[in-house]
Amino acid sequence: MQPRVLISTEEIASRVQELGAKISRDYAEKDLVVVGILKGAVVFMSDLIRAIQVPLEIDFMATSSYGAATETSGVVQLLKDLDTAIEGRDILIVEDIIDSGLTLSYLSQLLQSRQPASIKTAVLLDKPDRRRIDFIPDYIGFSIPDEFVVGYGLDHNHRYRELPYVGVVSS
Ligand code: IMP
Ligand code: MG
Repeated sequence: MQPRVLISTEEIASRVQELGAKISRDYAEKDLVVVGILKGAVVFMSDLIRAIQVPLEIDFMATSSYGAATETSGVVQLLKDLDTAIEGRDILIVEDIIDSGLTLSYLSQLLQSRQPASIKTAVLLDKPDRRRIDFIPDYIGFSIPDEFVVGYGLDHNHRYRELPYVGVVSS
């Protein structure tokens, strides 16, 4: 069964343009490195960087905390580190969704220890009700209720990432 639409392709596209415009203003004259968190962030990131009008580099990290569950295990594992040295540079971490907050808080602390000039975070989706760690992303596409969502990069058991919208799988 196709997931039910929660956020449409058009709504996503227009919000991504707004975020790109804001990020472009905030990073004028900076040394921007956009760090995407694999795999969920790749679709959002590829649209977002094309909506940003200032020079940038990209790199990727990968973490795991979920396995096949829809609940975080509470332990974040680093599966892939950056290729780029980030000391003195302006880092924007891009994530598909913030849920417990564990992933972004872990990654921010890890990258902070490498002395970048700045670190900010951008998420397409925020589930504020589920936070276990106090963490507020700098750029948020949409706040959503506590439902497990898929599409536009987000998966359930590796499926649905290619959907052009954010949807909810009915169980
Ligand atoms: P956190 O560490 O609990 O904030 O979780 C962040 C990660 O959990 C995201 O990068 C996603 O991979 C995954 N995640 C959390 N909620 C969802 C969801 O509703 N659908 C798909 N993945 C999710
Ligand atoms: Mg993820």
